[in-house]
Amino acid sequence: MLKRTVTCGQLRKEHVGQSVILNGWINRRRDLGGLIFIDLRDRYGLTQIICDPVTAPEVITVAHSLGMEDVIAVRGTVRERPQEALNPDMPTGEIDILAQTIEVLSRSATLPFLVTDRSTGLEDLRLKYRYLELRTAELQYNLAVRHRAAQSVRHYYNNNQFYEIETPVLMKSTPEGARDYLVPSRIHKGRFYALPQSPQTYKQLLMIGGFDRYFQIVRCFRDEDLRADRQPEFTQIDVEMSFVEEEDVIQSTTALLRQVFHDVLDVELPATFPKMEYSEAIRRYGSDKPDLRFDMKIQTLNRLLAESDFQVFRSVLEKNGTVAAICVPGGAQFSRKIIDDLTVKVRRWGGQGLAFTKIAEGGLESGLAKFLAGYANDLIATFSARPGDLLLFIADQPKIAYPVLGRLRNATAKLMNLIPENIFKPLWVTRFPLLEWDAEQQRYVAMHHPFTAALPEDRGKLIDQPETVRARSYDIVINGSEIGGGSIRNHTRELQQELFDVLGISREEAREKFGYLLDALTFGAPPHGGIALGFDRLVMLLAGTENIRDVIAFPKTTSGASLMDGCPSAVSSKQLDELGIQLKTEKHPNLKKRNDAQNH
Ligand code: AMO
Ligand code: AMP
Repeated sequence: MLKRTVTCGQLRKEHVGQSVILNGWINRRRDLGGLIFIDLRDRYGLTQIICDPVTAPEVITVAHSLGMEDVIAVRGTVRERPQEALNPDMPTGEIDILAQTIEVLSRSATLPFLVTDRSTGLEDLRLKYRYLELRTAELQYNLAVRHRAAQSVRHYYNNNQFYEIETPVLMKSTPEGARDYLVPSRIHKGRFYALPQSPQTYKQLLMIGGFDRYFQIVRCFRDEDLRADRQPEFTQIDVEMSFVEEEDVIQSTTALLRQVFHDVLDVELPATFPKMEYSEAIRRYGSDKPDLRFDMKIQTLNRLLAESDFQVFRSVLEKNGTVAAICVPGGAQFSRKIIDDLTVKVRRWGGQGLAFTKIAEGGLESGLAKFLAGYANDLIATFSARPGDLLLFIADQPKIAYPVLGRLRNATAKLMNLIPENIFKPLWVTRFPLLEWDAEQQRYVAMHHPFTAALPEDRGKLIDQPETVRARSYDIVINGSEIGGGSIRNHTRELQQELFDVLGISREEAREKFGYLLDALTFGAPPHGGIALGFDRLVMLLAGTENIRDVIAFPKTTSGASLMDGCPSAVSSKQLDELGIQLKTEKHPNLKKRNDAQNH
């Protein structure tokens, strides 16, 4: 084999005259007036090869046989391109290679889609041939970004006295809110390991074990319903620190993120990130992950509109509800159809309706204008509104009104193109409620996880008003995406037991599930806290993509399947026997076929 002496991204004008060997894939072949032009590709770039029948007739014969994605070795001479052939868009665009020898290393079958144009394959097809999709420029870039981010993370933590420690993948289940993936034990029949939803208890035990500062870039597994930014297996940057309070974890994580954005994108994030309490985030942005790239804050109008003539508002206010609104800059141009579409969305999100009015030169216009005429000046002042703006009102119980307005805020900002690209707006959201009521289970559940500590000043309310207790928790949000979350933990057995009690976890159940942790907390546990960042989501931001599958080499579909190797798949009855497992409904892969045959 002709081994490469240079890569396809390397050659410049100063290499003119050199004899080189390149290895790579055929990205493109063009036949022009007897000459054959080949763009040869590898991870490092593209180089143009020229096959000339006059100087190397035998090369032309081989070149004629070459198809897309064939793998070749080329020996040739670096030439300066003539003025008219210079390509300033291509790093190697000043040179080309006059081929002397071509060796075919491997042939490619007909491609299911073009590696040079992802849009030529539907996603299912691309996932089936993922290794081909990995050759595309986008995925090559995204995974390079992922690599650089991971190195930057390791660098930062190594420089700041954190130890990288691995925790078990086969473990006892730690409830993190999602369902566990279970792994049956062959030796202990009828027993199961769980794959970690996160290494939460282990990292706390590492603090009790005296390691002081821990981090790990770790795979986590959650059997939950998937969305665009979720995968059943995903990666966390998992961190825990001893002898710390909220501010210490926040500062350290801020420094980490600044480092990563600097190393990967050359972007300087601010030295400190703004902070907002959860309650304010909901009240002003209708979300626990506000996108701060645009303003459009929610205004609560209960007092202002208490006496308005609009019956819907009055009746909601009489029932202790809320009337709140956002102002969409320039939104008066929305057609009736857009407002109707938004109203349909509002209903889907749980709202009852959407009321609006437009700001005109002389006051309000259309929609609620006639009901709110007397409030025009107050409304305009409250929102600093200008002619051409649109006010959107939701009247409902606060639990509905704010989140619906939050979603309207995002949707209308997108419609109006108000969200600047290529800027990053980080925000710490703090003091989440410790507990939330789970209607299905008819009990309180931990909003973050059951190891999170309550704010000391709220602890007294744990029994009487559990839903008002705030947690020592914090989420890091960037551009409206929840990148990570963490908390200060209960570091004494008493604190932890108190929380289990409020959660309605019996002493027995607590012993059985978390006995090891409760015991560990009695042997001198340091005060500790930490955070986990969703590494895939972070890379999505860095790479500028909205699809989590674009930053994972071998992702699963939204139904948790891998279209390439076909997992999850059936296993042999021998395997099941060894595990002592009998399936409830035994599915024979051939059954369907047999039935179909019978029906004919
Ligand atoms: P949490 O459950 O908030 O915290 O997870 C931390 C971060 O992980 C990311 N994430 C996901 N990313 C992709 N796909 C998923 N299915 C998925 N689920 C979560 C999110 C999230 O913010 N042990 C705690 C952390 C701690 O308290 O230290 C934990 O796991 O970006
Ligand atoms: P109605 O009186 O039900 O015909 O509603 C009049 C207007 O108010 C319609 O545009 C509705 O979409 C809107 N509306 C109804 N209920 C609400 C609500 N709870 N909040 C905001 N607007 C509403």
